[in-house]
Amino acid sequence: MKNITIIGTGYVGLVTGVGLSEFGNKVICVDINNDKILKLNAGEVPIYEPGLEEIIQRNVQNNRLFFSSDISSSIKKSEVIIIAVGTPKSDTGDADMQYIYSVVKTIEENLNGYKVICTKSTVPIGTGKNITKILKNNFKEDFDFNYVSNPEFLREGSAVKDFLWPDRIIIGTGSLIAYDIMCDVYRSLYINKNPISHTSVETAEMIKYASNSFLALKISYINEIANLCELVDADIHDVASAMGKDGRISDKFLHPGPGFGGSCFPKDLESLLAISNGYGVKMNTLTAAIKANREQKKHMCNKLEKLIAGGIKDKEIAILGLAFKANTDDIRESSSIDMINFILSKGGNIRAYDPIANHSMAKIFPDISYFQDVYEAVNKADALIVMTEWNEFRALDLKKIRNIMDGKFILDTRNIMNMKELSSLGFVYDNVGRFKI
Ligand code: NAD
Ligand code: UGA
Repeated sequence: MKNITIIGTGYVGLVTGVGLSEFGNKVICVDINNDKILKLNAGEVPIYEPGLEEIIQRNVQNNRLFFSSDISSSIKKSEVIIIAVGTPKSDTGDADMQYIYSVVKTIEENLNGYKVICTKSTVPIGTGKNITKILKNNFKEDFDFNYVSNPEFLREGSAVKDFLWPDRIIIGTGSLIAYDIMCDVYRSLYINKNPISHTSVETAEMIKYASNSFLALKISYINEIANLCELVDADIHDVASAMGKDGRISDKFLHPGPGFGGSCFPKDLESLLAISNGYGVKMNTLTAAIKANREQKKHMCNKLEKLIAGGIKDKEIAILGLAFKANTDDIRESSSIDMINFILSKGGNIRAYDPIANHSMAKIFPDISYFQDVYEAVNKADALIVMTEWNEFRALDLKKIRNIMDGKFILDTRNIMNMKELSSLGFVYDNVGRFKI
């Protein structure tokens, strides 16, 4: 078991820190955002992630998990340094690497004996080589440090489970010493089952982009099939479920919806595209997946406009769900943002409700109305849109909603409402790719 510093205490850094301490390591999570660290030290969890608070408490109590703003001394005390800062999209589509290289500089300034320098952030292929080159200016590889690429595959909303029971751990390194150390970091995982693959640094970096891009591609594909289903009187749920029974296809990531969002798929597709362009390689599938996703978001807006008799202007429209998916407070690249912008541009009024993400969306749209209760949001609304597949929205009292809404229009972009019930209550509804009842 190792002494580890995780640099960057965001969605990935925090879950990684907590997970590795749960595996028995001694972990310090550090961040330049002092507020975050203060909150964590006061027992507050800065993000919404089911199950996270409980294991934070357990590992803090067991003296295996610490939070600090003192990045230098944390690095000095640790044998493994894991970089988990953000790599957002830059204006060119490439990953913005300023946070990564700022951390590398900090590591350089504090390297005081052999350490494994490991990147968990999603970084362009070749980053590991660059970091190694920078560190080699002042330090000796194998003696002072070794580099590892250890990409992360957790999903927001199920991050704790994904981290503690992963399908695979990729350890990309040219060093057997570093590989053994990383195996030790993950030791509790492979006592029963060994999910570890040892690859080169570049292969590990590519595995991450290739995986995210493939999943995004699958979603864009099923969204386009769903759109066609509507025109040919086919039902996407029956189509996707039958397709998924073929083991070569699998039923995962075949749910049609309002277009994928989140902090990763959109930026990682663009980043892989920028990388391939840099090598003069055309990746037509990626270009198509990105375009299809943009159009899916627009398609949802057009559906709404078609659905509401008399147009959107001056209508009260309840938006249920702001997060980019259920079980998270993250709204980065959420399709709800496109929908809100569209409704505002058409002169409609928004009544927004999300069980967790109201506060996040209020940072982007401070002037729309937010509600703490779903029925307050739909009260006197002319139309209702479901944008996120929160469980709460699967079990709505539709009879009550019919009585309190002024209008009768419902757009269910997640296909979670019971069509039979909607019809029998006299709603005029639309969804994605379903055979309407
Ligand atoms: P995030 O924005 O939630 O967190 C990044 C954290 O890094 C912030 O708290 C920020 O204050 C901190 N930070 C920035 N510069 C720093 C510095 N110099 N020193 C210390 N801390 C610093 O980002 P995230 O969603 O956790 O993503 C991190 C990386 O992991 C990205 O590359 C992302 O693509 C990848 N990833 C994310 C997910 C996910 O579900 N969010 C899953 C797999 C991989
Ligand atoms: C995704 C990947 O699933 C993770 O493996 C990866 O680690 C992560 O990106 C990352 O690199 O950050 P995440 O973005 O948290 O995880 O969430 P997903 O469950 O993948 O959903 C992404 C988007 O696709 C959401 O908007 C979701 O609603 C949408 N989606 C997902 C669909 O529209 N249909 C589906 O069938 C699945």
